[in-house]
Amino acid sequence: MSEYSLDNSAKTYRYYRNAVERHWDPHEIELDEDREALAAFEFEDGEEGFGYFRQTLALFGAGEEAVTEDLAPLAVALEGIEDQMFVTTQMYEEAKHADFFDRYWREVVNPVEETKGYEVTSPTDDRFFPENYDSLFESNERAMRRLLDDDTPENRVKAHANYHLVIEGILAQTAYYAIHKNFSEEIDDYPHLPGLVEGFSNIRSDEGRHVGFGMHKIKQHITEDGVGISVLNDTVNDLMVYTNGILVDTTEGDAPGVGRDRLMEFASEKHRERLEQITNADADIPDVDELVRLSGD
Ligand SMILES: [Fe+2]
Ligand SMILES: [Fe+2]
Repeated sequence: MSEYSLDNSAKTYRYYRNAVERHWDPHEIELDEDREALAAFEFEDGEEGFGYFRQTLALFGAGEEAVTEDLAPLAVALEGIEDQMFVTTQMYEEAKHADFFDRYWREVVNPVEETKGYEVTSPTDDRFFPENYDSLFESNERAMRRLLDDDTPENRVKAHANYHLVIEGILAQTAYYAIHKNFSEEIDDYPHLPGLVEGFSNIRSDEGRHVGFGMHKIKQHITEDGVGISVLNDTVNDLMVYTNGILVDTTEGDAPGVGRDRLMEFASEKHRERLEQITNADADIPDVDELVRLSGD
């Protein structure tokens, strides 16, 4: 049998192919209906209600930008070509996600603010970012950068736990869940925003792959390199303080639709589920088709 360059049966090669096959363009999503629906919609508490919606988008946009910037050290550290091919797709996808939120602010948020006579805001304004949010992303940046000068299996686990598990697998998944439920016609208290839902659906599907990759690598470091489960647990537990803080700081206790309590519950379900999939030898990480599927919420 001849030797080929790529191992196309490798899990990470399959993730890479899945990313190529599911390619989408953030500039092709139709946003006119969203702009009209939001401009015509009266949030129960007016500008404040719109403010929570707007803040969620600012947090997502800044988060996508941060993860785009912070992924590169992993691409330097990884050895296998199949892993590196996957990470190139992830970096490209994070860039597209950041682009989608930037576009939504330009084409929907700012025009709606103008129509409604609200203050016209910038998505980078400090007011949107609670301290817990800054702390979480600073921790992620440090954990990723550490791979450039101290690349050990233990530090890899810490980096993946910050990036793929807590930010992508717990915090972002929780917020995607809320956005999807609230703006896809399921709840009368919110406008129906098909462009936002379409963008989020594509992003969530990409993120499913990213989370799967991170969990797969963590599991590998634990089972093959002997990294203790306590490294994973301690890292995740420390970071959950920030994620819970972010959920409290950026939601209303009595909001209609998916409220704060349900979000906190969803985040801890995800936390439990992720750790179970990694640490239980019999619990498999879902395959790529399941990871990118959006049902089952
Ligand atoms: Fe992303
Ligand atoms: Fe991601």
